[in-house]
Amino acid sequence: MRIPDFALERFFARWEFAVEYLLCASDVEGWPMADLLALADDEAAGLWHDLRLGYAESTGHPLLRAEIAELYDRVGPDEVLVFAGAEEAIFCLTSVLLGPGDHAVVTWPGYQSLYEVGRAAGAEVTLHELREADRWSLDVERLIAAIRPETRLVVVNAPHNPTGMLPTPAEWARLGDACADRGIHLLADEVYRYLELDDAEPLTAGADLFERGISMGVMSKSFALAGLRIGWLATRDRDLLDRCARMKDYTTICSATPSEILALIGLRARDRVLARSRRIVADNLAILDDLIQRRADRFSWVRPRGGSIGFPRLLGDEPIDAFAARLVEAEGVLLLPGSQFGHPGNHFRIGFGRENLPAAVERLEVFLDRG
Ligand SMILES: Cc1ncc(COP(=O)(O)O)c(C=O)c1O
Repeated sequence: MRIPDFALERFFARWEFAVEYLLCASDVEGWPMADLLALADDEAAGLWHDLRLGYAESTGHPLLRAEIAELYDRVGPDEVLVFAGAEEAIFCLTSVLLGPGDHAVVTWPGYQSLYEVGRAAGAEVTLHELREADRWSLDVERLIAAIRPETRLVVVNAPHNPTGMLPTPAEWARLGDACADRGIHLLADEVYRYLELDDAEPLTAGADLFERGISMGVMSKSFALAGLRIGWLATRDRDLLDRCARMKDYTTICSATPSEILALIGLRARDRVLARSRRIVADNLAILDDLIQRRADRFSWVRPRGGSIGFPRLLGDEPIDAFAARLVEAEGVLLLPGSQFGHPGNHFRIGFGRENLPAAVERLEVFLDRG
């Protein structure tokens, strides 16, 4: 398979472990192992203690699939397939659903694999552009108008990376109905689910919307356990899930057994896990609100409605790539220029899931004051 570089991941490969302040990370501060284990109930603690490091069930540990199914109203454990992160799920799903002659519509700017894997598989992809002038909102009627007879898949990431876009329940239902009427699959990339901000209404999960709705989740973002590399697909379309399982035989075969048990612990304790994530995100967002208000001459943004990232604009004449390069050099603070998404504006991704955000913002302000 020939596929272009994943620009954002190459950018992180260069910088992620070389800088002090990752002010553009999309995940929430990872749990320390000991704290996570302390959340285990007796059964999960026993599973961890007695764990044997053999191969695991290819579809995922039955208890983990049952726990994941609890996140949905209309999905059973056999309608869940576990993957090595959301990334493997994207790869398997889009490569089984899309091929030459097929068409997909995918939100953009966005996580590159959501459209690149389909293209590499030979399909044509229409990018549904989110526009700052529309407050990054999903233009559902424009998106539906892009659907063609050969469209097989619509992909919407919400809460959205990088803009924080979250459709209204009415927009979401309208899109679900349009896909259902046409017999098209809808992949809802819900990796930032549960981080709806300011009481924004959570959306009905994709898998609960209609038969061909697919929810994609992961432990990395809202559950703050990126190191586990555990993600999943949930859908009532069992035939599709079976096709994905057959593709997974060519990628990882099964997940890492320790990760499955640790994910089970995290999901069973999800009230506490998510409360911690929401607290970190809310505290940090207040700091960014204040920063952007005080520095209105340098930054503007459409405030995110969900997730742990936003997409502000750098004001003035300096291109964001040059600004970000000077900043990281001088202060060790990393921003992600919009160019890494192929976006032409002067925007950058800022992440507010990390506990050192207050210190990172202080360094950013020192940099701004120095001029
Ligand atoms: C929208 C979106 N989908 C999927 C993923 C992949 O998640 P993971 O790296 O945990 O596999 C990411 C990661 O940044 C993401 O932002």
